[in-house]
Amino acid sequence: MYKWDPSAFGLQDDSNLMDKILVLDFGSQTTQLIARRVREIHVYSEIHPFNMPLEQIKAFGAKGIVLSGSPARICYDGVPRMDPKILELGVPVLGICYGMQEMARILGGKVGVAGTREYGFAEIIRKSESKLLDGVYNEKGLATVWMSHNDVVVKVPDNFIITSVTNDCPVASMESKDGRLIGTQYHPEVTHTKAGKKIFDNFVKNICKCALSWTMQSFIEHEVKAIKEKVGKEHVVLGLSGGVDSSVAAILIQKAIGDQLTCIFVDNGLLRKDEAKKVEKMFRDKFKLNLVCVDAVDRFLDELKGVSDPEKKRKIIGRVFIEVFENEAKRITSHESQVTFLAQGTLYPDVIESVSFRGPSCMIKSHHNVGGLPEKMGLKLVEPLRELFKDEVRELGRALGMPDESINRQPFPGPGLAVRLIGDITKKDLELLREADDILLAEIKEAGFYDKLWQAFCVLLPINTVGVMGDERTYERVVAIRAVNSTDGMTADWAELPHELLKKISNRIINGVKGINRVVYDISSKPPSTIEWE
Ligand code: XMP
Repeated sequence: MYKWDPSAFGLQDDSNLMDKILVLDFGSQTTQLIARRVREIHVYSEIHPFNMPLEQIKAFGAKGIVLSGSPARICYDGVPRMDPKILELGVPVLGICYGMQEMARILGGKVGVAGTREYGFAEIIRKSESKLLDGVYNEKGLATVWMSHNDVVVKVPDNFIITSVTNDCPVASMESKDGRLIGTQYHPEVTHTKAGKKIFDNFVKNICKCALSWTMQSFIEHEVKAIKEKVGKEHVVLGLSGGVDSSVAAILIQKAIGDQLTCIFVDNGLLRKDEAKKVEKMFRDKFKLNLVCVDAVDRFLDELKGVSDPEKKRKIIGRVFIEVFENEAKRITSHESQVTFLAQGTLYPDVIESVSFRGPSCMIKSHHNVGGLPEKMGLKLVEPLRELFKDEVRELGRALGMPDESINRQPFPGPGLAVRLIGDITKKDLELLREADDILLAEIKEAGFYDKLWQAFCVLLPINTVGVMGDERTYERVVAIRAVNSTDGMTADWAELPHELLKKISNRIINGVKGINRVVYDISSKPPSTIEWE
């Protein structure tokens, strides 16, 4: 059974000071987008399961509620049903797709199977005035929206009016005569609905009358205070990877508690060229973080010797990381005050995933590199980014003075080059891969593609092929280049990089890295492939 814990969302003391929108999730793929659209308007929004108990909904104190869509169908048994009393709370409620149908069902309307199933772009036609749809239509009274449904409302509840229709949908949107309960059959949260932003603007600002108080500055002030209160005089350790999330978390926590934070950077020997040096320079020299760099290269490489199975590599790297980190934290404890907190850069999508009534999605690769660490070490957690989406973390980083170069850093997997070096890992092969990868990144940056791509990297294959250099036959290794576009890493397309650029990269790698005589380009999308090769 889902249980709401306000403290888990950092909402213990001033939760009612800020205007908020509550999103109740019925399981739609696009629920997260609803919260994001609201936050883009600078109003705070949280997602909770549809069965959040009424008392907790009241305690949450939202100025408006959005009911999400769902893959379920209203007409079946065992599908998500909401507490009808939510509609009697007195705050505006916007039901989207399934959310609108559930509203109609509860209030005595009728939901039926659509004559034609609509999926994709549709044109809504204005039927009557609506505050929600103010400024949305073109001069002909039409607007482009995104539909995805089997069922539709075929009869609106008493005291409701139809505000728009499409050629195939008798009720594209509806609302109660007092304008408080509103439903749209289409999805305003997806960018395909052209006026989606305007629709959320209307709902949040004009209908719910929310003050626009969610800004990065207010977040920083709130979070600095909360971290100070939580940590008191105790000591915090944080595993700094150089990635965006842990870096932003470190700088924010330092702002709150200064030297009571120690960041631990573990060089596992699987990093990109000069990565350890860059991290030290940036965080110790520029940001004056209390930083401990641990050289654990030999330890990791010893443990990985002879291991070629990717999941085994991941498990070993995860375990050794925990051992090294734990050791270091104990050492810090011996000359600092007792370490009682572990800070992590957990983001909101991870939080939603773990509290969702759907449970975590199925595992293809085990990505949770440091799972189990806090329990094992008996540490309490500080997770100042748990309310933020990735783009908000970047905005926060900028507000904290981080340079664009680190904020826009492409993701780099925890197991690092271990999953880009197919087969056994040796120091010599790591060097080859690092050199090739360094050339690739330099060229990608030079050509202005770094910020446009989700990731670009080299993979070293465990085979030799024949080549000819000058008059000599070579029998050397192959490097594959992977460059993908993606918005969240869940799906990805291989990037259509210009041939001239690929030619330059290939020439530079083959001529510049002794031991590599062939470069190939990976033209697989995800799915069915994955982004990393292992
Ligand atoms: P895949 O290969 O699953 O990658 O398509 C999706 C995204 O996740 C990153 N990735 C990892 N990140 N530990 C991580 O921290 C891992 O074990 C891991 N494996 C993949 C990958 O770089 C991509 O951005």
